[in-house]
Amino acid sequence: MDAARLKQSWSLVAAHGDQVPLFFYSTLFLAHPDTRQMFPTNMAGQRDRLVAALGHIVSHVDEVDRLSGFLGSLGADHRKFAVRAEHYPLVGEALLATLRHFLGDRWTEELSRDWAAAYGLVSQVMVGAAQAAEAVHPPWWVAEIVGHERRAFDVAVLTLRPQYLLPFTAGQSIGVSHPAVRSWRYYSPANAPRADGTVELHVRAAPGGAVSSRLVYGCAVGDQLHLAAPVGDRLTLRQAGSADLLLLAAGTGWAPVKALVEQVAAEGSGRRVALYVGARTRTEFYDGDAIDKLASSFPWLSVTCVVGADLHRPGELTHPVDRALADGDWRSRHVFVCGSDEMVSHSVAALSGAGYQAGRLHHEGSGRHWYGPTWRTVVDQATVSRTGDERLAR
Ligand code: HEM
Repeated sequence: MDAARLKQSWSLVAAHGDQVPLFFYSTLFLAHPDTRQMFPTNMAGQRDRLVAALGHIVSHVDEVDRLSGFLGSLGADHRKFAVRAEHYPLVGEALLATLRHFLGDRWTEELSRDWAAAYGLVSQVMVGAAQAAEAVHPPWWVAEIVGHERRAFDVAVLTLRPQYLLPFTAGQSIGVSHPAVRSWRYYSPANAPRADGTVELHVRAAPGGAVSSRLVYGCAVGDQLHLAAPVGDRLTLRQAGSADLLLLAAGTGWAPVKALVEQVAAEGSGRRVALYVGARTRTEFYDGDAIDKLASSFPWLSVTCVVGADLHRPGELTHPVDRALADGDWRSRHVFVCGSDEMVSHSVAALSGAGYQAGRLHHEGSGRHWYGPTWRTVVDQATVSRTGDERLAR
């Protein structure tokens, strides 16, 4: 297998832009109409998720050893799309047909053999990991919506009851999909694991976000959702040992932070926690009652609500970090930051500037995705920014 030739031929094909996924999906769905139901309902104008990754990853077959952990997670995760081993040859066929079409007379027998072999090797790792994952957890959990409250025009708090236990750790994220939409989006539960297994989600409808809009505007108690296995550990307490904490949250970034507070309460470890929760205006504190209840329940917890917009300074926003830094020196603590990208980068810059050690700052960085970094980051070992619709919703 000549990996350089694979990469070079893929870059020639990828140069055809949107035509490539269009051809690939038409070929796949025409030959195997059953596969259509695995993909999002609305694929018109959808940014391609699969094809670019497929060509890029398969053409890096020479690094399959280095990539095996990542490919294993990817294969195990593909179970949530209802992908089974027998689907791999079908996608392989469509990939080769796509390459042949765009390479024209540059397509040779040798290239065909190399692509088939590379695809076979990558598929083998993914299928093997998917089979191993069968023994660990189901491809997805069916969960019923048992609570749905619109707390703001575009924010809903949902309580879900999975049909069987979905184990997770406070600060992790779980995949959520509505069966009618079939796209997946990741949310951090707003609770520590509960005895009754229910999960609370805080969802803001993102502009153009099929899943989030459906969850906020188009769901009701009694509806069913699909949940995927929990991922990520950047925001779990494991990162902080037994240290005292400073928690900074804004918007629906409050959800994982609330889960952390509940986790500290459940631990009974005696660590002290200072919590700063921000919103642009007073009415944007969509979970005020829960914040008040936590504040009055635990002597080890101090809570400060920061209203960001100041009428006297239009255009400027006070972030929770600004207030926390003005209030005290928290450098001996571990700091968890959760909110929009802008809030997180502002907070991290402010904390770093004030001498807080990077190793004590916990947040979701950019270039990360549900199984960790984005596929491109892993494959190229370079940092790329997260794409809007894949990142965690805040
Ligand atoms: C070598 C084999 C494969 C590789 C490297 C691969 C890679 C990927 C990657 C990186 C994604 C993006 C994940 C995300 O953004 O959440 C993806 C999505 C997806 N893949 Fe695969 N995949 C492979 C095989 C397959 C097969 C055999 C199927 C079955 C038809 C499949 C169905 C899907 C679906 C349904 C999605 C979600 C697409 C969307 O939401 O637009 N993949 N794949």
